[in-house]
Amino acid sequence: GSGDHYTFIVLGASGDLAKKKIYPTLWSIYQQDKFPPNTAIVGFARSKMNQKQLIEKVEPFLKVTEEQKATAMKFYGINSYVAGEGYGDLSSYKLLDDEILKHEKGANGHRVFYLALPPSVFKEVTLAIKASCWSRTGYNRVIVEKPFGHDLESSDALSKHLGSLFTEQEIYRIDHYLGKEMVQNLMILRFANQIFTPIWNRNNIASVMITFKEPFGTMGRGGYFDDFGIIRDIMQNHLLQIFCLVAMEKPPTKHANHIRDEKVKVLECTKTLGIEDVVIGQYLANPDGKTEDSKTGYLEDATIKNKNSNTPTYACAALRINNERWDGVPFFLKCGKALNERKMEVRVQFRDVPGDIFEGKLKRNELVIRVQPNEAVYCKMMSKEPGISFEPHETELDLTYHVKYKDVKLPDAYERLILDVFEGNQLNFVRADELREAWRVFTPLLHAIEAKGVKPFTYTYGDRGLKEADDFVASFGHMYTGTY
Ligand code: BG6
Repeated sequence: GSGDHYTFIVLGASGDLAKKKIYPTLWSIYQQDKFPPNTAIVGFARSKMNQKQLIEKVEPFLKVTEEQKATAMKFYGINSYVAGEGYGDLSSYKLLDDEILKHEKGANGHRVFYLALPPSVFKEVTLAIKASCWSRTGYNRVIVEKPFGHDLESSDALSKHLGSLFTEQEIYRIDHYLGKEMVQNLMILRFANQIFTPIWNRNNIASVMITFKEPFGTMGRGGYFDDFGIIRDIMQNHLLQIFCLVAMEKPPTKHANHIRDEKVKVLECTKTLGIEDVVIGQYLANPDGKTEDSKTGYLEDATIKNKNSNTPTYACAALRINNERWDGVPFFLKCGKALNERKMEVRVQFRDVPGDIFEGKLKRNELVIRVQPNEAVYCKMMSKEPGISFEPHETELDLTYHVKYKDVKLPDAYERLILDVFEGNQLNFVRADELREAWRVFTPLLHAIEAKGVKPFTYTYGDRGLKEADDFVASFGHMYTGTY
């Protein structure tokens, strides 16, 4: 109602994530007029700036066109900035609270806090907002970004801390992959199609491969990356979330907690990983590369201090689910930086047709869900070669989004997720027990790699992947189809 005012508070407003991701997202939501009425945005950070300087800082990332200028001016008008003395300084948070109260004008004040901050200040910031900026008249919701700890133990400590201040309904753990169109489509594809549901099991599916590839390296993020590595950066969160959606049982309803219950259950059935379940790699410079980045190997990145670092920039793991549906089916999770292309896809490979009458000419069916770029669902299948012959050949049943849905603009992942927070929809956010299980699967592997100083295999910046990973995957009987 009109008695409600909303404030989106960006903690860490002068940082990288804020300017590259959060402010552009807020601008996009504003342009589409999707904010609840009476929404203001307040930035908070240590940098000594004013509102005008904040706008100057983020403006280059908003990509405002000539026609949007007037709207942009209005957008700047709902923005303000508070400079704090330090993230632990309580009097600074009093100033922040005053700024929010000024906007709320005595109405019911609903507050969304976005923590675009390094983990080192998480604790003091959350304590301070709870003590000094908590709304007394409306809801409070806190959005947090990974890393959620470094392993099971540190993640548990963080969860315990957050749990001592906030209820689970107030905490929104972002995994931005859950905001992507095709990731959200997985449940509909699986549970709304009788052609898929009955065959979705070990009797018909030979393996599942979930692949993430990026054509660039650490790009100045080496300081963060070297402490975490690709398994923590991508696999334990983004890929594992997709794994859950592919493998979980059908929830009783589509409500957030029913869905998240099923994700937890499938993780509980997933075997803890050891060193033998993974192949890791690290990229070397490509002397023939076209960009500066590609001529820089991982260890030559100026932001990486440990020049003997074994941190993986590539990993391929085989996960096993010990339940009736999936026993014996390998789920491969593959991810790598500095590869030949940007690509994220899920590839479900079916078993061979029993009783072949086509002289071994059949290829396995595959259902492919391409998350990015160029969203698509397609099914590789056999069909009669057109013409006079009576030979099977491989073709595709193809739902490519830009062909089928020509004029639809798909919203950005962050956009959807931020709007979900205003609506109180936690479906696409990670629950505490889910996070715990995710760390349980990966922690012994991560600790073993680190304790034993396992050397990653090397690959060249721009490679398609790692030969050793191809061999690893083939050893499970997975057929290489030449397209991943
Ligand atoms: C982030 C990782 O979570 O996801 C980055 O920290 C990675 O390393 C990014 O580049 C990829 O996201 P997207 O949406 O560009 O595929």
